[in-house]
Amino acid sequence: MPAAQAALQPPSFNLANELDAALRQAATTALRDEPTQPKDELTTGALQEGKESQPPTLEGANEFCPELRPADPRHGDFQANGVLPYAKARKQNPRALAEKLVAALPDSLRERFDIAIAGPGFINFTARPAALLDWLAHYDSGARLREGAASTHGGERTIVDYSSPNTAKQLHVGHIRSMVIGEAICRLLEFCGAQVIRDNHIGDWGTQFGKLIWGYKTLLDAEALARDPLEELERLYKAADAATKADPAILDAARAELVKLQSGDAENLALWRQINATSSTAFQQIYQQLDIRFDHELGESFYNDKLARIYTELQDCGLATESQGALVVFHPEHPRFAKQPFIVRKSDGASNYATTDLATMLYRTEHFEADTIIILTDTRQTDHFEQLWLTTQKWYAAKGYRLPEFEHVSFGAILGDDGRAIKTRTGDPIRLQALLDEGIERAYALVSEKSPTLPETDRREIAAAVGLGAVRYADLSQNRSSDYVFKWEKILSFDGNTAPYLLYAVTRIHSIFRKLGLDPYTNTASAATAAGAASAPETEHELALARKLLQLPAVLQTTTEQLRPHFLCTYLFELAGTFSSFYAAEKVLNDSPGIQARRLLLCARTLLFLETGLHLLGLKTLTRM
Ligand code: ARG
Repeated sequence: MPAAQAALQPPSFNLANELDAALRQAATTALRDEPTQPKDELTTGALQEGKESQPPTLEGANEFCPELRPADPRHGDFQANGVLPYAKARKQNPRALAEKLVAALPDSLRERFDIAIAGPGFINFTARPAALLDWLAHYDSGARLREGAASTHGGERTIVDYSSPNTAKQLHVGHIRSMVIGEAICRLLEFCGAQVIRDNHIGDWGTQFGKLIWGYKTLLDAEALARDPLEELERLYKAADAATKADPAILDAARAELVKLQSGDAENLALWRQINATSSTAFQQIYQQLDIRFDHELGESFYNDKLARIYTELQDCGLATESQGALVVFHPEHPRFAKQPFIVRKSDGASNYATTDLATMLYRTEHFEADTIIILTDTRQTDHFEQLWLTTQKWYAAKGYRLPEFEHVSFGAILGDDGRAIKTRTGDPIRLQALLDEGIERAYALVSEKSPTLPETDRREIAAAVGLGAVRYADLSQNRSSDYVFKWEKILSFDGNTAPYLLYAVTRIHSIFRKLGLDPYTNTASAATAAGAASAPETEHELALARKLLQLPAVLQTTTEQLRPHFLCTYLFELAGTFSSFYAAEKVLNDSPGIQARRLLLCARTLLFLETGLHLLGLKTLTRM
């Protein structure tokens, strides 16, 4: 590429991907003569049969996968590990192959990176200071970062089914994981270019409505309903449930109410609507508080008229069979699901969770034309989703439907101090609203203690960001597959991988700019022009920070590929730590305008990356604390 054109082109966002492409390109020339099969097979086989005159093939190069990843900082910024397996399969010397490859890389790359071959044949790339500056200067705003990240999941239409609570029950602490992890996944995928559709798949249909309607008609306390509707509905359900257990006649009555509802009885339908509306209003309050907005609320009932087709199609393609009156699917190739049925229609003819989920799968494929479907629930539903997906794959293949990607994003439980599922002292589940309120109150006490002179309204604002942020971050910073222990002292601590620590780090950088009367959001290169343009990072700590910043794209990629927000949390925590060391070691407010400008640039980018990352995780950030 001519120099002038190169200068116009912004540096690639994900340098690892650029290096990957360059190495693949180099392989087409450097590795083109390499045999595609292990050496001895070739010599004993093809060559002896007199085929040595065949032209060299490109296949060997095509099979080469550079395997780029962020390197151990002691060795560089990125490392390509792919030469080893490639050489091993061909019984070649990996170092010699690595040397050939490196020699075939374009000069433009060599100008920007120090390239070294290490150990048995790893290739290490270390961005030169000028390349670091070039990159940092370009990625100077949320919009630029988003532009850079957009190709990671470019245009993939992705449905995320999260929160999805059942109606007529309070949200309790167990509901938070789906909401918080789901929202972070939506924001991250969107940032990385996916077209995200948020769907709250409410459990608004099912056998619980028989009991609820019976309870509503016979046990309602109208005053209590007016005072706290969801509380009263929950009480009605519990009372009706107990009554049906004690008296078979009441159980029959509740069943009759359900049948009436299912056959379209006007009174019961109206009650059902009212119960759902009441729930929805209550849920909405918490969604608002957590800044969660859905594009759709297509609950289970939405699929009522789409279930008959499921029975027909699954039977037509020979997947579902009758077993003791029920319609079931077995998967003979599976160790457990060969015997454990996926019940798609119960023996009394009623639909169930499996039926609605099959219909949901189909609707998302046909109506939304989803490329990817993501559903969040706790790990207890793993079997259900495995059976659902096995069934869907076979059904779609038989019908010739386009198969989307599917991910069941599952998560562990939240535990109390005693290592059991977290509960109130009386053994009831902790209400989510109460938990959030407590987080805010505790944060308020902390802030008032730390900064007693701040005006009350400021302390309230800080308390909301810190309290809600702490609860959210505690959930996101753990690998979602594991259970975690919820401890206020730990999640509200200003030390360690916590929201308060990161939010505080953000305000500290803001205060650096405040002292200088500069706005960190306007391009710092220009904000600092008053003091002279920034030069490339130079000192050990400047370089370490610049290199840490350079890792963001790879982190976003891993986080969205694995749908595990804790990778981003760990990165932000480490970035804040690297910044601290930098700030402790280097004077930012400096007599030399050149040095000050270059350090301010690093401060501004750290701030941008921390804020962008925290917003993607769903946290609100602050400018002072
Ligand atoms: N309502 C279900 C529950 O509370 C979660 C629904 C998840 N989404 C789905 N399509 N199954 O466990």
